[in-house]
Amino acid sequence: MARRATITGWGKCVPPISLSNADLERFMETSDEWIVERTGIRNRQLSHVENTDLAELAALRALACAGLEASELDLVVVATCTPELLCPSVAAMVQDRIGATNAAAFDLNAACSGFVYGTSVVAGMVESGFAERVLLVGAEKLHYAMDYRDRGTAILFGDGAGAAVFEPSSDGDGVLAVDLGADGGKGGTMLIRSMGSRGEPSFTNDPAVFGLHFEGQAVFKIAVQGISASAARVVERAGLATDDIDLVVPHQANARIIDSATRRLGIDSSRVFVNIDNLGNTAAASIPMAISDALDAGRVKAGDHVILTAFGGGVTWGSIALRWGSRTDPVGVHEGELPDTDQNCFELLRDNLDFYAPLHIDKPPVV
Ligand SMILES: CC(C)(COP(=O)(O)OP(=O)(O)OC[C@H]1O[C@@H](n2cnc3c(N)ncnc32)[C@H](O)[C@@H]1OP(=O)(O)O)[C@@H](O)C(=O)NCCC(=O)NCCS
Repeated sequence: MARRATITGWGKCVPPISLSNADLERFMETSDEWIVERTGIRNRQLSHVENTDLAELAALRALACAGLEASELDLVVVATCTPELLCPSVAAMVQDRIGATNAAAFDLNAACSGFVYGTSVVAGMVESGFAERVLLVGAEKLHYAMDYRDRGTAILFGDGAGAAVFEPSSDGDGVLAVDLGADGGKGGTMLIRSMGSRGEPSFTNDPAVFGLHFEGQAVFKIAVQGISASAARVVERAGLATDDIDLVVPHQANARIIDSATRRLGIDSSRVFVNIDNLGNTAAASIPMAISDALDAGRVKAGDHVILTAFGGGVTWGSIALRWGSRTDPVGVHEGELPDTDQNCFELLRDNLDFYAPLHIDKPPVV
């Protein structure tokens, strides 16, 4: 049987500061009812620590779940579009902190499709024999790039990290097929301009260009088409029919995108995993966090056919078909936690609200 890459460990790190729809009503003109109806989101979690801290804890939890020592890893990859620094990579910092002394490390940016792109890369490394044990993390601190007075964007996103360990299998389990694609011509529909080299040194201090720019409706349409077509291709490439699919774990962008895309695919909601209500859209972290939650909820059994599918900035899209291996319960548990905080969301976002205030001078003061 061909050598494949299978997931043997999973873990997530959910930061502790809640930002509910009722909290958002205090920054901007919106309502819980509007947000739930249009997006399915009721709450998101924000991080008081850096992206790397979230990634590290998710990584340690995934390693304990797999029953591995960090020194047994050959490679650490972090998918992110909000790295703590551009150089060194988040992956290199995680590699050092967890003690993965024998591993190479790099970051990968395909925005919300990052974990799917990352899975294709690490699966290729394992299948080819270039690597034996690989840690793939999706980690984001998206709140950093949000204008919390902009109701069209800030309602959607949250922070978090999820991780998975991939190891070789020879019994048919693991990644069966991959579909990846991109349309760079539509890249302007989702922009984070504050973290690249474009512009003068003062560039990042201008609130008009700093935050995420986002064309919600355009993205919505591209996402529904992109996800359903890509997922259909990967199902076919894996030699499966839609009836063979036990669970779809989609990128958690918007409950309506997930509904429309999976309906087009012919998969009913009982076979789709959704946790967007509590976490919002966490970009590259959303699929690995959803995998963890699906395992914890007993939604994945040995031998299940699982589809991962995502759409994101770039624009990029991609899907993975895999057959879940024998591990559905963790080998061990990592007990560490993030450092405590007594900040609430209003305290955490105070500087953000002040920074963007000049763009909203016609609006009433908040909180
Ligand atoms: C952002 C999104 C929720 C907006 O929903 P929508 O149904 O497209 O809403 P529209 O942008 O058409 O806005 C409709 C109205 O609601 C208003 N509105 C927008 N955000 C609002 C909010 N948070 N609360 C209340 N009203 C809001 C708009 O101003 C507009 O009002 P108008 O008709 O008076 O101009 C939706 O487009 C979306 O989810 N897009 C994709 C998001 C995504 O996940 N992207 C990342 C993919 S990786």
